[in-house]
Amino acid sequence: MDKLDKLNYINGEWVGKDEQKFEIINPANGEVIGTMPEGTEDDVNKAIDAAHKALPAWRDLTAEERAGYLETVYDLMMENEDELATIMTLENGKPMKESRAEVHYAASFFKWFAGEARRIYGKTIPGKAKNHRIQVVHQPVGVVAAITPWNFPAAMITRKMGPALAAGCTFLVKPPKETPLTSIKLIEYCEQAGIPKGVVNHIVSPDEVFSNTIKDSTKVRKLTFTGSTEVGTLLMKQSAEHIKNVSFELGGQAPLIVMDDADLEKAVQGAMDSKFRNAGQTCIASNRYYVQSGIHDQFVDRITDEVKKLKVGNGLEEGIDIGPLINKEGYEKVEKHVDDAVDKGAKVVVGGKGGERDGGYYYEPTILTDVTDDMICMNQETFGPLIPIRKIESDEEGVRLANDTRYGLAGYFFTESVTRGTKIYEAMDYGIIGWNHGAPSAAQAPFGGMKESGIGREGGHEGIEEYLETKYISLGL
Ligand code: SIN
Repeated sequence: MDKLDKLNYINGEWVGKDEQKFEIINPANGEVIGTMPEGTEDDVNKAIDAAHKALPAWRDLTAEERAGYLETVYDLMMENEDELATIMTLENGKPMKESRAEVHYAASFFKWFAGEARRIYGKTIPGKAKNHRIQVVHQPVGVVAAITPWNFPAAMITRKMGPALAAGCTFLVKPPKETPLTSIKLIEYCEQAGIPKGVVNHIVSPDEVFSNTIKDSTKVRKLTFTGSTEVGTLLMKQSAEHIKNVSFELGGQAPLIVMDDADLEKAVQGAMDSKFRNAGQTCIASNRYYVQSGIHDQFVDRITDEVKKLKVGNGLEEGIDIGPLINKEGYEKVEKHVDDAVDKGAKVVVGGKGGERDGGYYYEPTILTDVTDDMICMNQETFGPLIPIRKIESDEEGVRLANDTRYGLAGYFFTESVTRGTKIYEAMDYGIIGWNHGAPSAAQAPFGGMKESGIGREGGHEGIEEYLETKYISLGL
């Protein structure tokens, strides 16, 4: 693919100057794959003004009309699956098969929320006197600003943009500097679909330029963010200034528990599915493994067989399962977690090393056993292809260790017993639970975290409620 030189999109215009340009790097080999202009404070303000001006007309469309636009963008994504997936692999590094899957996953949010646009129901409540009625209606919150991550360059935008547009909100997004070429493609599809100018805007600007400008704006009524708990904490404080509505999907530290009555094949498949998507760089990736002593050795043997089959390399090549880590910093974090565990007595069953190769940073999928609770990998999100396994004796011990964290995004467990499983899921403090299943994400499900993993839900019917205000009318007859 030729080098992509793209511009930002504000009020229906493609904007940006040569002197603002920065380079976008392929994490597989360090090559420059394109350029984008870095947005300024002035650009962010223009985007806010454009979204504010476009709001009344967009809000006043019928649900059917807004849904129609979303369905057209869905169709364009499907028609251009290969092009979009290739761009994603080039700038994110994930294998082509995963990029294609992400195109489908990302597009599914437009399809789902096109349906939800048509289901923004109100209600009538009995009044307090014979001549009194109460009606409840839902209306869009207004202008929405979104800050999105590099690990799912398309899906983390559509999961926000889909419900926002469906609800009647207008939208500006700041994607990360690592993956703006995928997001700008989405904006091109929005333009091709005929979405009116100002309704969607795209600015890649330095993080603090964007967040400070949003903080000061009274026109932006909602901030939605996917990223770290540390940044989420700062954005929440900033949002307090003008009491902005917020939805945050933040860090995870997902436990995966295997009980001794688990179906071994389901447990191994679930562990593989929940761990290795995007080389382990997902917020819902299983991060720490608690395996009951009765099944521990069999589980280690079977998952080792599967991990040994994984092929590491440039995601554009055929048959690759694990691509590069996003950058040197991401690589060093994985290395630190493995080295710390080994220094403290963990055993490397497979993998345990990585390095720079052809300009990219790759880490071998790794399994550690004899892991203890004081190791960094059991306390922090690794965001890499590491499976640290700790033996447990009972359900209570598994649940206690699983909940012993400030995070609460996703948790997984494996048991064939409905009684045991029901008690476990009821006791786990997680917004997303995989029971005998390692791939819980779906547009129709209310994705989100408890505790310091976030606030609000994305997807499902709950996903559109995040973009709606509730208003009631006290009607005297
Ligand atoms: C994430 O890593 O934040 C999202 C993963 C998903 O939607 O499946």
